[in-house]
Amino acid sequence: MIVVLLGPPGAGKGTQGERIAAALGVPKIATGDVLRAAVKAGTKLGLEAKGFMDRGALVPDAVILGIMKEALAEPAQAKGVILDGVVRTVPQAEGLAAMTRDLGRSVDVVLAFDIADDELVARLSGRTTCDKNQKPFKGLEPGQPCPDGCGGTLVRRADDEPDAVRNRLRVYREQTAPVLDWYTRQGTRVAHIDAVGSVDEVTTRALEAVGT
Ligand code: AP5
Repeated sequence: MIVVLLGPPGAGKGTQGERIAAALGVPKIATGDVLRAAVKAGTKLGLEAKGFMDRGALVPDAVILGIMKEALAEPAQAKGVILDGVVRTVPQAEGLAAMTRDLGRSVDVVLAFDIADDELVARLSGRTTCDKNQKPFKGLEPGQPCPDGCGGTLVRRADDEPDAVRNRLRVYREQTAPVLDWYTRQGTRVAHIDAVGSVDEVTTRALEAVGT
């Protein structure tokens, strides 16, 4: 099963993506995680992506399509994959459709996480992220060791600063929201998930929508 997670910054895609992937027994790919790992490692990809990410802009489509292609070629994804934030523009959706078609597959469902802007801003201002396993946490301070015991340290993401958050929300409305209409026009099932509530409640809604 190929599941695309779409939603504004802070909607809970990363949090829910982990849980959906575990429930379905399939891997999760998050382009944000791939890019942050590249920035941390100082690779060519990371150097190219950093400026876009820090100001809350999208990394160019060609870069994302390259990451998608590599990721979809992984044998671990034969049973399915959860794509977290991987598709953010219509050209990216078109590129993914072409790649999955070549593999004889297609996107089964798009989960659209719905949430108001003020809740997003509150979530992002209270978020810390592990610099090693990339998991998001709330109510914890930067500098603390990762509660998962992975050896990482909690950090505050540069793009969680207020100016970058405002830009990410604008970019979402202008460039990513139209992707939902694109999928609807293609006949792909789009399930809207109310992203407000406890993490468990949102997981239950998401798993119902994927049919487990
Ligand atoms: P990315 O890392 O994907 O950022 P994002 O889409 O802005 O999403 P976030 O990670 O900020 O939030 P989330 O929805 O995953 O929420 P989370 O679960 O953390 O991308 C970063 C950047 O990379 C982009 O801006 C862009 O530059 C680049 N990029 C990536 N992919 C790209 C692409 N395809 N094309 C171009 N550029 C790309 O939750 C947020 C907080 O809320 C956490 O603290 C969490 O603990 C808490 N929380 C979660 N659920 C709940 C709940 N139910 N109630 C209360 N709190 C909750």
